[in-house]
This record gives sequence, C-alpha cells and structure tokens, in this order.
Amino acid sequence: MDPKVLIFETAQAAADACGDRTLEILDQARKERGVATLALSGGNTPRLMFASMVKRGFAWSGVEFFQVDERCVPADDPQSNFRMIRESLLLPAGIDESRFHRVRTELPPAEAAAAYGDEIRQVINLHPGELPVFDVVQRGMGPDAHTASLFPGEPLIADRTGIAASVWVEKLRQHRVTLLPGVLERAGFTLCLATGTDKAEALHAVLRGPIDPMRAPSQIASPDMTWYVDKSAAVLIQGSATSIRNTPR
Ligand code: 6PG
Repeated sequence: MDPKVLIFETAQAAADACGDRTLEILDQARKERGVATLALSGGNTPRLMFASMVKRGFAWSGVEFFQVDERCVPADDPQSNFRMIRESLLLPAGIDESRFHRVRTELPPAEAAAAYGDEIRQVINLHPGELPVFDVVQRGMGPDAHTASLFPGEPLIADRTGIAASVWVEKLRQHRVTLLPGVLERAGFTLCLATGTDKAEALHAVLRGPIDPMRAPSQIASPDMTWYVDKSAAVLIQGSATSIRNTPR
C-alpha cells in the first residue's frame, strides 16, 4: 500500500503529530501484549519529536527501545545517535536505560553489528532466522534520500534476511551499524519524519519518482507507513499529497 503523507504547517506540528502517533501505537501494543517495541533513528530531526513526547508525560513502562542505526563513534561522542536520544528523551522522560538496547560502538563495527543482532534476538525472543517485528520504527531521511544508514547504492539495500549490519559510508568517511531492509519492511508501523527545504527534492524523488530503493533508500517501506512532513519539505509534492493537516495542537 502507498505510504500516507501528512503535511503540517511547521516542523514542530509534524514532530508533535509523529510523536503522538508513536505513543498511541505503543500504548495499544502494550495493552495487547504487555510490552511494546520502538526503534528510533538519530540525526537532528527527532529532537523536536522527543521533546514533544517528554511533554506528554507518557508512562514508558513495558516499552523496549532499539536503534534504527548508529554512527560508530563513542556513546558520548557529539555525533552519537544514542547520546542524542539519551539527552533528548531517555533522561528528561526518566526512562530506565536498561530497556534501551543500543549499538555497542565500543566494539569494532562488524562485532558491534553482530552483538546488536544477538541482543535483538534475545530481547524479542526470536527463533533462528526470524526477523524482529518492531511495533514502531521511526525513520528519518537524508537530503540524498537515505534512511537508517542505508545510503544510495549500498548493496545491503538488497538484504532481506539479516537483522543488522555494519556499513562503511564513503561520503561520510564513517562506519555505521544499521537495521537492514528485511527488518524495516516488517515494522508494524513505520513513521517517517522529514522537515525542512533540504528534504524537498529527496521527498519528491521518494514519493513521486520511479520505484528504485537502491537509488532512493527511503522507498524501503512497510505495509503501514506514514510520512510526517512540514510544508517546506513538501513544497515539490504539495497538491498531490493524500492529506494535509494544519490542526493546531
Ligand atoms: C543518522 C540517522 C539518519 C537520519 C537522516 C536524517 O544516523 O543520521 O539515523 O538516517 O534519519 O540522516 O538526519 P537529520 O534528521 O539530521 O536530517
């Protein structure tokens, strides 16, 4: 099914709505199963969403947290996605960090990826060869249409059997660990948050261009996928989106 596209007046409104939807899904999953699983991306965009979620005063018991991807830097490095999530969400919301399953970047990249996959299998109690189904996978998108740490042309974009892998990102001269497409495609709900004019061309390519995830990795989709975007990011798709939300909070 095609992704839904919700366009908001501002980045804050998009972040608020994406955060609220995340909490709604987690609460429902927890009611049904007693637990809920949430995989979070990094970068800068999620900061607004995390701050919004903290303000909601949500009770986080029973939620297990995972990373969509991580830069292979120390956990206290300014570039660390874990550090950003810890500062923006875990600490202000008083979340028990033992429930946050981070990529152990103190290990070499390939070992960190293997250890991360093992931890996911253990926490979610997967059978050998089984892939996790996270209740919510929150994703971002780069100006080059990358998502997670799957950048255009990355051969791992064709990997639908693994859980996580290490990847060298030449343009950034950086090792990363990322969830793989097989996992992203199985998400219960995928919520993509993209804001700002620097994302407009990529969003047009992803939503209106030819289907080619090798060229536009953000086209990697799960059955229920929703884009939360602001008008700046939507400037090239405005008018053809499925829904425009300007509801003030
Ligand atoms: C990362 C992210 C990545 C991010 C995009 C957008 O490690 O960088 O997980 O996939 O979602 O690069 O980043 P911004 O939100 O900073 O634009």
